[in-house]
Amino acid sequence: MKQKISKINVLIKKKYKYELLENGFNSEDIAAGKKVLNSKRITMADNTRKFEDAFAKKIGSKYALMVNSGSSANLLAAFAAGNLLRSKRYKAGDEVLIPVLCWSTSVWPFVQFGLKPVFVDIDLDTLNISINDLKKKINKKTKALVLINVLGNCSNLFEIKKIAKKKKYNYYRR
Ligand SMILES: Cc1ncc(COP(=O)(O)O)c(C=O)c1O
Repeated sequence: MKQKISKINVLIKKKYKYELLENGFNSEDIAAGKKVLNSKRITMADNTRKFEDAFAKKIGSKYALMVNSGSSANLLAAFAAGNLLRSKRYKAGDEVLIPVLCWSTSVWPFVQFGLKPVFVDIDLDTLNISINDLKKKINKKTKALVLINVLGNCSNLFEIKKIAKKKKYNYYRR
């Protein structure tokens, strides 16, 4: 285990060089933030609406909804995908695959909905979901897959889409 952790550290430092956290605000961002604070309207105002519209357009969706955190976004996504009004949805008792390296809030919305979480190993080169283990963990009860893109690196969507297509899964994008 110790060896694996030191291997991960070496990979991150030498190969990818992505910091977990860096200060990404420039003076323009800070000035924009101050303008919002001074307006005394700090939520659901013009900037939020503009961002939602631009984001929806960018991803080719009819709507986008800004929320306060990644955790809230997970909760909404989990319940939206199981919405009774959808013809294609998952149900309580179905299985959801989740990479082991995740947030507690990546898992709990699905548990709250009644799904059974099944953990999938990660790939030590990318820290994202292991395609090999993903193939092993998929079964008839699998109805959803949560992807965590660690440190800004995207999961291998080419392979994952191929697997989803082969298994005839619906590819939930929105
Ligand atoms: C998949 C996932 N779940 C949960 C979180 C936690 O987000 P927050 O701290 O904003 O609630 C993140 C944050 O990046 C995330 O990517």
